[in-house]
Amino acid sequence: MTLEMNTNLPTGRRELSGSPFMQAARGITPSRVPVWFMRQAGRSLPEYRALRAGTQMLTACATPDLVTEITLQPVRRHHVDAAILFSDIVVPLKAAGIDLDIVPNTGPVIANPVRDAAAVAAMPDLDPEHVRPVGDAVRQLVGELGDTPLIGFAGAPFTLASYLIEGGPSKNHERTKALMHTDPDTWHALLGKLAEITLTFLKVQADAGIDAMQLFDSWAGCLSLRDYREFVEPHTRFVFDGLADVRIPKIHFGVGTGELLRAMGESGADVVGVDWRVPLDEAVRRLDGRGKPNLVQGNLDPALLFADWPVLQREIDRIVAEGRAADGHIFNLGHGVLPNVDPTVLTRVVEHVHQLGA
Ligand code: CP3
Repeated sequence: MTLEMNTNLPTGRRELSGSPFMQAARGITPSRVPVWFMRQAGRSLPEYRALRAGTQMLTACATPDLVTEITLQPVRRHHVDAAILFSDIVVPLKAAGIDLDIVPNTGPVIANPVRDAAAVAAMPDLDPEHVRPVGDAVRQLVGELGDTPLIGFAGAPFTLASYLIEGGPSKNHERTKALMHTDPDTWHALLGKLAEITLTFLKVQADAGIDAMQLFDSWAGCLSLRDYREFVEPHTRFVFDGLADVRIPKIHFGVGTGELLRAMGESGADVVGVDWRVPLDEAVRRLDGRGKPNLVQGNLDPALLFADWPVLQREIDRIVAEGRAADGHIFNLGHGVLPNVDPTVLTRVVEHVHQLGA
């Protein structure tokens, strides 16, 4: 099945028709299986640690020269088929004026968690001007990346809501689920506001020239399908609907989302990211019949980057073979690169995937 929706490129956008990543993301048979890694920029790279020394994460994200250099580092080192903008899902929240910080080895921490209707009503909107440095970084990057596509991204409303309600990272998301069920009006008001912020943030990146985008709903896998459909999907769909005119590939990803893959594949995304729990051919079975191509991204267990090479190689071979059930497969991990992985292993994974051919 061919993908018609992404072929009308807006004028001014890079065409990149020879890019294996863009081909696979559009359902066109690529010249080779494309590969990139979630969290390919970051602590696994010594050159990243050197550059970031003495600079806070959120300061780095607001400094276009640093964003550009950090984004380029893994492309130069690993020869991945796509760059992902160096930023964070909480950047638009911070830019809008929400008091938060990214604490090393913990993650985002919110000064005043949002837990009632008054707090939701007091939430600021995002003015595109607030994230101008992100747009500047994107413009700089598309000038420097040559033929390598740039993936922009944002956090999906649910995952952002979890951080805002819990006040930081959470294992059980108990306050989030309690609010969702106890006060659905406040819940929907909060997710509605977050969907607006996410849409604005992605539009800024799209206007600046990103070639593809990924919407991370990292923690949606903690929900039942019923709750996902009722409390989350309408807001995610609002984001994708708002970007319908932006004809670049849109990837939607979460962890532990085996039960949600179909719903996530119906929310307006072109490509569905799959974690390591569901084989890609099974993911394709779950997605099939939506009236659009079955395009998947994934799904090597990030922990297996610590296994012996023959073991890892077998896993890569299996994943590429299972990915052939899809109309397009972008090789990736099932979640982000772990901080203490040996980066030479990542380079070797890229080489091996590329050797396997189209
Ligand atoms: O290379 C890339 O993939 C781009 C970089 C990227 C970062 N954050 C940089 C970062 C991306 C895509 C994100 C998105 C993000 N941020 C998500 C969705 C992706 C996912 O992992 O599911 C989430 C849930 C967050 C929230 C967040 N920010 C966490 C959980 C952490 C890690 C905390 C820690 O230190 O272990 C952060 C901080 C963060 N974001 C770092 C980086 C490189 C580490 C900060 C540092 O280097 O000091």
